Amino acid sequence: MLGMRDKKREVAEYIEIEGMPMEAIYELIERPQDLSKGDYALPCFRFAKTLRKSPVMIAEEIKNKILDKSHPFESVEAINGYLNFKFDKKKESLYLIENIRKQGAKYGSSDEGKGKTVCIDYSSINIAKPFHIGHLMTTVLGGALYRIYKKRGYNAVGINHLGDWGTQFGKLIVAYKMWGDEKTIRETGIMGLNDLYVKYHREAEKDKDLDDKARAWFKKIEDGDKEALKLFELFKELTLVEVEKVYKRLNIKFDSYAGESFYNDKMEPVLNELREKGLIEVSEGAEIVNLDEYQMPPCLLVRSDGATLYATRDLAAAFYRKKTYDFWKNLYVVAYQQNLHFKQVFKVVELMGYEWAKDLIHIPFGMVSLESGSMSTRAGNVVWLKDVLDRSEEQSLDIIKAKSPHLNNKETVSKQVGVGAVIFFALSSGRIKDTVFSYDEVLNFDGETGPYVQYTNARCNSVLRKAEVDIKNIPSGEIEADFSSIENESSYTLISILEQFGEILSISLDKYEPSILTRYLIDVAKAFNKFYLENRIIDGKLGVSNARLALVCSTAVVLKEGLSLLGIEAPEEM
Ligand code: ARG
Repeated sequence: MLGMRDKKREVAEYIEIEGMPMEAIYELIERPQDLSKGDYALPCFRFAKTLRKSPVMIAEEIKNKILDKSHPFESVEAINGYLNFKFDKKKESLYLIENIRKQGAKYGSSDEGKGKTVCIDYSSINIAKPFHIGHLMTTVLGGALYRIYKKRGYNAVGINHLGDWGTQFGKLIVAYKMWGDEKTIRETGIMGLNDLYVKYHREAEKDKDLDDKARAWFKKIEDGDKEALKLFELFKELTLVEVEKVYKRLNIKFDSYAGESFYNDKMEPVLNELREKGLIEVSEGAEIVNLDEYQMPPCLLVRSDGATLYATRDLAAAFYRKKTYDFWKNLYVVAYQQNLHFKQVFKVVELMGYEWAKDLIHIPFGMVSLESGSMSTRAGNVVWLKDVLDRSEEQSLDIIKAKSPHLNNKETVSKQVGVGAVIFFALSSGRIKDTVFSYDEVLNFDGETGPYVQYTNARCNSVLRKAEVDIKNIPSGEIEADFSSIENESSYTLISILEQFGEILSISLDKYEPSILTRYLIDVAKAFNKFYLENRIIDGKLGVSNARLALVCSTAVVLKEGLSLLGIEAPEEM
């Protein structure tokens, strides 16, 4: 691991028990409920039987052995059959702070994911449809997981499984041919496409022929008709141009844009295999996999008119990804409305006899709705993500103008804050919860928000700028500091929180919950602000200032890197 310290292991190395390997002891060491008793504890009850002694005696004996040698602990105490270890806080703190400063943005990295490829299917927007608030969660959740996986040493593959297939393209061609032209559509882009789509649906209610025409055009796309394909590609291009702009603002990247149409020629082999394995049932001309036995409706794979479906393409995609990336896990960051769909697809893979079916994982999340009245909708009831970001930036500019009239780059900062606020909001509750978005709340600089964390980071940087000593440029370990000046509760609390960063990242991945990181950053910010309030950072004594400045510096490292993993920028001044 990259400079990550395993304190539990350091404790284990000092414990000698006859016949017990170090690894076994390591497993038994715990964090005491009451941290004032010690940083780590070894319960000695387990050894009583083999050693034929009382736990109280065992604890006492181990303690004496340790105290006979030189050790890094401030205290080792035997209490009621437990052995409690307290590290020397001064040495500890120095080590941690300087280690964070040394590693900088690498702090919290690890190689725990070495050799493991994780595919993450996220955002996966639909072509020619608005990039709306419904795609906010999948986009930022997937983006955060992608970055955290990379930081922890995994080979992450970001996949945008574009919704670029289906009868809606036939509808769009019909609409385009009736009311559109290339020049206008190139100018109006995705908005224009959406207008065409909306108009089509209005007209189709009156004119039943339209749907037949649309089906015919879609058939032409499927058959590779030149004109149909050209229009299809145009719609895709126009959508992607617009969507890329939003991705850029949200710091989102993909390694693959293999969408649904990419699987057109990859479904047949999978279907054949299913047929050969006797898993397909023909029901009223359609091909299905019966899932009665698993209390699920059948998985429909080929309609009676021969058309394939969403599930068919997902099935082909799973096989393609296994073959191409040999993934350790293949994650789908998709709203909980699709729970059944994924359960069915995964079950089909399992029934085909592939043990890697267990590595297909759906990561569902709840719905984001807007506080009523906070946004007028342009097309039907759809709220465009772009509009949400625009408005958040505007409101953030107003706040910054009022709060920091002298700030130089207000425009840039308000963009970072406005967008950051939206991302932070989306990632701050447990993902499965439905949430309500409110501009005032997400932009509250004093609330548990993105701006609050960004502001705290800017405060750290402002302290560092004002200091006489340029702490950032003093190599770690070479700083002349009096670390006894950080021997107080608020400093220690902050230090012990900073120490948990790597562990927090690891848990966020285990639970697929970037909200754990989000909460953590709030805790860091709160602990920092308490420390800031209770300690004079620039003190008359150089040693004191330096120690505190080094702590400020490490705090800024963690805040900045934490935000960046969420896709949020950290302005140095606000
Ligand atoms: N395009 C779909 C939608 O917007 C999401 C696709 C998710 N990924 C997948 N492999 N099915 O609802």
